[in-house]
Amino acid sequence: MCGIVGCTGTDKAVNFLLNGLATLEYRGYDSAGIATISPDHNLHVVKCQGRVATLRDRVKNANLVGTCGIGHTRWATHGVPSDRNAHPHTDCSGKIAVVHNGIIENYEDLRAQLKEAGHEFKSDTDSEVVAHLFEDAWNGPAKGNLIAALRNAVARLEGSWALAVVCTDEPDSVVVTRHGSPLVVASTPEGAYAASDVMPLAAITKHVIQLADDDIALLQKDGTITIYDANGDEVKDPATLDIDWDASAATLGGYPDFMSKEISEQPEAIERLLKGRLTDKGIRLDELDMSNEELAQVDRVYIIGCGTSYHVGLIARNMIQHWAKIPVDIEYASEFLYSDALVTDHTLCLIITQSGETADTFAAARRLKSMGCRIFAITNVLGSSAARESDGTIYVQAGPEVSVSSTKAYTAQMVAATLVALRLAQANGNMTLDEVKKVYCELLTVPDAIRKIFKRTWQDKQLVKKLKHAQSMLYLGRGSSSATAYEGALKMKEISYIHAEAYPAGEMKHGPIALVESGFPVVAIVPQDHVHDKTLSNIMEAKSRGGYIIAVATDGDEEVANLADHVLWVPPMSEYIIPIVSIVHLQILALYVARAKGLDVDKPRNLAKSVTVE
Ligand code: F6R
Repeated sequence: MCGIVGCTGTDKAVNFLLNGLATLEYRGYDSAGIATISPDHNLHVVKCQGRVATLRDRVKNANLVGTCGIGHTRWATHGVPSDRNAHPHTDCSGKIAVVHNGIIENYEDLRAQLKEAGHEFKSDTDSEVVAHLFEDAWNGPAKGNLIAALRNAVARLEGSWALAVVCTDEPDSVVVTRHGSPLVVASTPEGAYAASDVMPLAAITKHVIQLADDDIALLQKDGTITIYDANGDEVKDPATLDIDWDASAATLGGYPDFMSKEISEQPEAIERLLKGRLTDKGIRLDELDMSNEELAQVDRVYIIGCGTSYHVGLIARNMIQHWAKIPVDIEYASEFLYSDALVTDHTLCLIITQSGETADTFAAARRLKSMGCRIFAITNVLGSSAARESDGTIYVQAGPEVSVSSTKAYTAQMVAATLVALRLAQANGNMTLDEVKKVYCELLTVPDAIRKIFKRTWQDKQLVKKLKHAQSMLYLGRGSSSATAYEGALKMKEISYIHAEAYPAGEMKHGPIALVESGFPVVAIVPQDHVHDKTLSNIMEAKSRGGYIIAVATDGDEEVANLADHVLWVPPMSEYIIPIVSIVHLQILALYVARAKGLDVDKPRNLAKSVTVE
């Protein structure tokens, strides 16, 4: 987590740093800071606990000038969010400033060694060791060479990092590197820039350079960027990336918050993803880069993801098992890393990750790759680490997702997972072309079904009064609807801070039913599917104990209408497709409740959008 930026050469350095950090706030927003080098070659650091908006005020009062600087927005790992733990961190001389995204795992040993050698620490962070290591290298073996000093400093680190460093002895340069955490750089006629992702750069360029792990790049004021690889050889032909979206995609565009904007973008995102995916031979998924024969050999699928992306995986598992008849294992990435993975020679690994940078997911994919599995990524971010490491990648093209709570990426990822399931099923002969076409045609109706939900938001609004003061809620569903229950509960808890527990409806009687008392809110996802009647019985069990039943049900379902206290209606669709639509009600419900509680829906407490630590 954490976002970093750096720039040199531009007379708008402070603007770039602050605006860049604002676009990276989704990565963390506990504290923020910038360091610039003034024309008289002095280092100026302004940092504070809180958001970039607070930093902006502080910077105004500090009257910062300069054309070279670095910045940071933090998601605390080591050291509480506070002014002193905010980045940039400086060395003992006050000449060197460092920003860091990642975790230095051996920081305690390094800190002890550096203290022993006389260094004084001003924060509780793991990151500060880098400033002191750089200082030692700068004054010692690197003899005033920025590249050598950074190489020397990182040689002693264990863990993950993206780093940007400035030093007043080289007042017009920024030196950056990465190892496990993302970093891109860009050169323009005005200067050279670095950032954790393309968002801060989208307003100034359409082309960025992706640094590989352990590359070190020197950014100079004339816009020159020189990159050296881990062996010290100059990288003449670095990987580049074209930014294919408008910078305005990451602005509010009239919406009160990014979450409502992103919810509203779902129909178009799905339409984009589906376009041209069906040919007269079946589903077109060239990104898989596997022949029909290879796909037909797949005898096991591993699905890996975290949070919302894991919930996509739950539905993907059901679809692949049902349509392609292939056994599927699904694991939370963080659990998979420490469990026994049983793979065959023909195991396909599906990693699902909106950001493509989630450390746990990425580490799990690497592990499966080292075991010989083919890795296929479903992600939203072009050029992300997950995409780079995979054998094939489907970009869901939902556009930048800024709100921490994932919405449009979730539904787009579900559509992508459906395409993968259909492709596998057709390749191994478990589905005919006509059967595949039928599901695809139903997928084409999803955008309009979601638009119908947008016209029914009054159904969600009516619940706000009831739920605003709720302490706890239960979400129930069976089969694919249990994934909707998990995702609906996650939305509610992460942005409204109401404890929301999701359970397979049939399991409720084995424990969670003890929670139900008079007026206790129970959200039951009960579409017209093969477990409809079973779920109705579970609803009855909760109702007869006083539960206030909020059902998400198929239009015209009289049985549910008679039983539930409130119904959120969804147009009729088949069992595996309806979850893509039902969840939209639950996204909107969580949004309304959080707003009614006066909470910041885009930046819920303790969270960050991109979780780049294990
Ligand atoms: C919840 C949410 C998180 C992410 C999780 C994985 O709304 O967004 O649970 O789904 O942190 O992130 P990605 O998909 O980027 O790997």
